[in-house]
Amino acid sequence: MARLAFALDPATEDRLLADVVEHGHVIVARLLAWRDVLESLDVLAPDVVIVGAGRATLNEELLAACDERGIRLVALAGDDSERANAAQIGLHEVLERSAAWNEIEPLVSGGITVPSRLGDATDRAPRAASVIAVWGPAGAPGRTTLAVNLAAEIAAAGHAVALVDADPYGGAVAPSLGLLDEAPGFASACRLAGGGALDRTELERIAQRYSAPRASFDVFTGLVGPSRWPELSHDRVTSALEAIRGWVEYVVVDTGFSLERDEELTSDQFAPRRNAATFAALAAADRVVAVGLADPVGLSRLLRGHGELVELVEAERIDVIVNRVRSAALGIDAHSQVRQTLRRFAGITDATLLPHDGRAADAAILTARTLRDVAPRSPLRSALRTYALDALLPAPESRRSRRFAFPPMRRAAMG
Ligand SMILES: Nc1ncnc2c1ncn2[C@@H]1O[C@H](COP(=O)(O)OP(=O)(O)OP(=O)(O)O)[C@@H](O)[C@H]1O
Ligand SMILES: [Mg+2]
Repeated sequence: MARLAFALDPATEDRLLADVVEHGHVIVARLLAWRDVLESLDVLAPDVVIVGAGRATLNEELLAACDERGIRLVALAGDDSERANAAQIGLHEVLERSAAWNEIEPLVSGGITVPSRLGDATDRAPRAASVIAVWGPAGAPGRTTLAVNLAAEIAAAGHAVALVDADPYGGAVAPSLGLLDEAPGFASACRLAGGGALDRTELERIAQRYSAPRASFDVFTGLVGPSRWPELSHDRVTSALEAIRGWVEYVVVDTGFSLERDEELTSDQFAPRRNAATFAALAAADRVVAVGLADPVGLSRLLRGHGELVELVEAERIDVIVNRVRSAALGIDAHSQVRQTLRRFAGITDATLLPHDGRAADAAILTARTLRDVAPRSPLRSALRTYALDALLPAPESRRSRRFAFPPMRRAAMG
């Protein structure tokens, strides 16, 4: 049995009613507009909301609200403009308005992974989260792109994820995801961690939520101004990451490119430590993803950087990724060129190669959404997803068991 809220045209609603009851479901609300649905979510606690796919009953705000509460949202589209509306906001559970109930039923009673809110996840998974730090040399090899999209893919697999912008040169995660960068972010978390006050309430207050259907995650945005560098001492970053990893299942960290010791840059022992966050993230990481560009300059920077990285991080913790692989920059058979170069000069035999995919990358930047949301079938998204599932997450068996078949019923909300 599921508790359903409807916001459908009267004819469709009437058509479905008998079948809904027949399947043992309860209709808790019949509403007219998306705002009515939104306002009813906490009071009526439906398990599934079924709406018309037009703007009057479906928009991003409703999707985000359902997603946050672990409520499934299914839309029925009557024409192309309604289908386009659903596609634009990234809802994939869309059927024809004329669909029979047995086509809708599978979406109502099983099969979809609903992301857990963090509270649920940490209650179920007391083990500290895995920390994945994304590092890469200078030259914008794609650290932020990887960090953002790996977070999204891990979240889409049903895990509670926090994405941390700890790049002391960048602060690029907030604009990449359309989030506020003047709000308190990772620096505030570090400041509180330094005073031993980074508790769950503060984490929830500081994190901004990136909302997407079944793949929402929490984001600690980067530093806005140079005045706050001192907040990012090695110890504070380490404590902040430690607190965050106690709160979610996976932490993905976007780091800076420089592995230069700050002491080498200045003799003033009280000067802000610019690279402290990068070093602390690398030390805390269970896995370091080292990304380089697939052109002669990018590869030589990656090889040099990899040499420095293995001084700091054991080789077993490092995954090498070569991004933007294309024959235009490396000649025909770019893949073997990359593999040969890595093997010959650094003995790396198991690198992951990601395609150059300007179309998907640009669409993501333009809309400030993840690849999963804006270009789900693109080659780049597909390669990133495969890497996340195969290399970062546990084997499929255990992964399946972590998903939960149905959103938690929230009877408490009904009093
Ligand atoms: N596989 C790809 N194909 C095409 N474009 C890509 C790909 N990966 C990343 N890009 C684009 O390359 C640019 C740099 O990527 P990104 O910002 O992720 O790099 P970065 O290493 O974080 O750079 P920075 O040094 O600025 O922090 C972005 O415009 C991004 O959209
Ligand atoms: Mg970046």
